[in-house]
Amino acid sequence: MTAEPSAGDTAGRVATRRQLTELERGWSHSAPLIRRWLGEATSAMLGMAGVKPGAHVLDVAAGAGGQTLDIAQRVGPRGSVLATDIENARFDAVVCRMGLMLFLDPLQGLREMKR
Ligand SMILES: C[S@@+](CC[C@H](N)C(=O)[O-])C[C@H]1O[C@@H](n2cnc3c(N)ncnc32)[C@H](O)[C@@H]1O
Repeated sequence: MTAEPSAGDTAGRVATRRQLTELERGWSHSAPLIRRWLGEATSAMLGMAGVKPGAHVLDVAAGAGGQTLDIAQRVGPRGSVLATDIENARFDAVVCRMGLMLFLDPLQGLREMKR
């Protein structure tokens, strides 16, 4: 997330965005501590989600990626984990080479990229 206000933001939205950015910075800086603190809960979550050796996992709102590393250990070399976040969500460009024709709904895919 970014603290940069954009056109159309109200004062309330700008203030909320700043607060969230500060919270997320604090969360990222404490990543090693948080990884230990949430270790047991993470293990339970991954067990409930059926994350096993060889699994391919999408980690949404991954932040600093402590749980991403736990997932990588669990899935091992035959599995994979893709971590995503909106921290750097303001892109200057989106590219997709030889992929659009594989989307179930290419037009919707283009719309999502434009956002
Ligand atoms: C409290 S941190 C948690 C990070 C990580 N999942 C963890 O457990 O350590 C929340 C994360 O969610 C991300 N986030 C906030 N809103 C989001 C959205 N709409 N889509 C994707 N990620 C989002 C933030 O950038 C931040 O990295």
